[in-house]
Amino acid sequence: MKDIFYTVKVTSDNHFYSSIGVEELNHLEMVGTIVYQLTRNLSEEEIKKSGFDAYFVDHTTGIYPSSAAGVPFTAAYLQSKGDPITDLHEDMAAEQKARTTYDNILRLCDDPDVKDPIRFLRAREVVHYQRFGENLRILTDKLDSKNYYQFNPSFDKKCFKNK
Ligand SMILES: [Fe+2]
Repeated sequence: MKDIFYTVKVTSDNHFYSSIGVEELNHLEMVGTIVYQLTRNLSEEEIKKSGFDAYFVDHTTGIYPSSAAGVPFTAAYLQSKGDPITDLHEDMAAEQKARTTYDNILRLCDDPDVKDPIRFLRAREVVHYQRFGENLRILTDKLDSKNYYQFNPSFDKKCFKNK
């Protein structure tokens, strides 16, 4: 979800970033809906047996953004350095981490009503990864061939100027 906050213009394709951001919010809505549908009619017995009891004590069946281990969502998960090369690598890593999480859910889940939307979300993360990769390649192709460390020349001229 961190790519929602990506603001550095890499190419003229601003629509790419806003569309991924909107899509990530839609993913959050889909996952929240899945959790809601799975938990809304649980009996006390099912809550205890399923290991949902600790969550239930804190949040009843309300949707509270947290990891599978119960760690609450925090802005600390959103990474941004303001450097397009750094941030595109971060975005690509985030997409792969999301894909791996969906893979793990698919390994553990046997409910087709959960697996189908998770497969869809997984496929979208793969597409996002590819799109960020394309933009990284476009960006690095535009760098001077002597820019070995792939720094951002628009920010770093003073740092690397020979005096
Ligand atoms: Fe994504």
